[in-house]
Amino acid sequence: MNIEQLKAAYEAAYQKQATDIFFSPGRVNLIGEHTDYNGGFVFPCALSFGTYILLSKNEESKINFRSLNIDAVYSLELSELTAPLPNKAWANYPLGVFAQFIKRGIAITQGYDIMFWGNVPAGAGLSSSAAMEVVTAYALNELLGTGYDLTELAKIGRAAEHEFAGVMCGIMDQFASAHGRADHAIYLNCDTLNYELVPVKLDGVKVVVANTHSPHHLDSGSFNDRVRQCQLAVEQINTVRPIKCLAELSQAEFLQVEHAITDEVAHRRARHVVGEVQRTKDAVEALQKGDIDLFGKLMNQSHESLRDDYEVTGPQLDALASAAWKVDGVLGSRMTGGGFGGCTVSLVRDEVIPTFIEKVGLEYTNQTGLTADFYIAEIGDGAHRVL
Ligand code: GLA
Repeated sequence: MNIEQLKAAYEAAYQKQATDIFFSPGRVNLIGEHTDYNGGFVFPCALSFGTYILLSKNEESKINFRSLNIDAVYSLELSELTAPLPNKAWANYPLGVFAQFIKRGIAITQGYDIMFWGNVPAGAGLSSSAAMEVVTAYALNELLGTGYDLTELAKIGRAAEHEFAGVMCGIMDQFASAHGRADHAIYLNCDTLNYELVPVKLDGVKVVVANTHSPHHLDSGSFNDRVRQCQLAVEQINTVRPIKCLAELSQAEFLQVEHAITDEVAHRRARHVVGEVQRTKDAVEALQKGDIDLFGKLMNQSHESLRDDYEVTGPQLDALASAAWKVDGVLGSRMTGGGFGGCTVSLVRDEVIPTFIEKVGLEYTNQTGLTADFYIAEIGDGAHRVL
């Protein structure tokens, strides 16, 4: 859909024109997985696809939520904006953002007619929910004149995810959606929230995203289990050395304290986090030096660690990654995002992209009975006004 079509769809739904339109992107993480809620580094980039919000004021003192992607329509009184809707309603993502503004002391005294449309494939681990949260926060910030900066909008989105979707995620997805920059990845320290925009200049190489279309996507239960296992590791390490988060430890320091983690699962989770933080630092350094081969190798190691120690890959992501590793001209391939389904991200030389899609697609179908989808990622800008 283009903007004209979106405006027409809004008019058809609400019999009036949208006064404001905003956009916020999905993201693909190049490396640094399950490190964000452990105070570590991540290296995501915003995609050129994401979520649009169209809105205008109404006279009914209600917030009306519609989406062109999902049929269910929600209409809430201004007094009903602080509690989640039952049954995993999609509107909990924007509603959770309204609730965060109210929690910060911002009164919502005006009704709005809202329509969303997104082109991030849902359940693909490319942060369609973060895009919806951030675009709502961005729109409210503009319309209410609250003056929050992009980092605060990302925090509002994360809090909405915690409180209204029940996923105890880190800051990566919302931060990337808010702060993205075309042709750059964001090297973010999730402890301090200091970040650097690093140009992704890949001569003759493209970032290819492959969607498993696997029915198992990350549920809040498995994700929150990982968060708890990391917290347990931190608690047990604290019996021998005070730390706030796992990312504080270098790999050498981890070797000195790992005996304190008596829980075998928590031990492996912590080993992944500490190794992944180091790999992310090394990968960014490699990219800055133009050593894409090393970057690719670190991506492969990241996948192995997520498979063996963190156990968030599953047969579909493993099938896609290992099929990619066999293709000449693939520099690296790994799962991206939360895991258990969703997408892989690969660095592929231009001339082998058609072979890559054919071979990996075929092997994936042979192994899983499913059909994968491939997109060449365009790295786009973060949240912004469209109209
Ligand atoms: C999900 C979460 C992020 C991050 C990733 C794993 O996308 O929302 O905060 O933890 O998983 O890196």
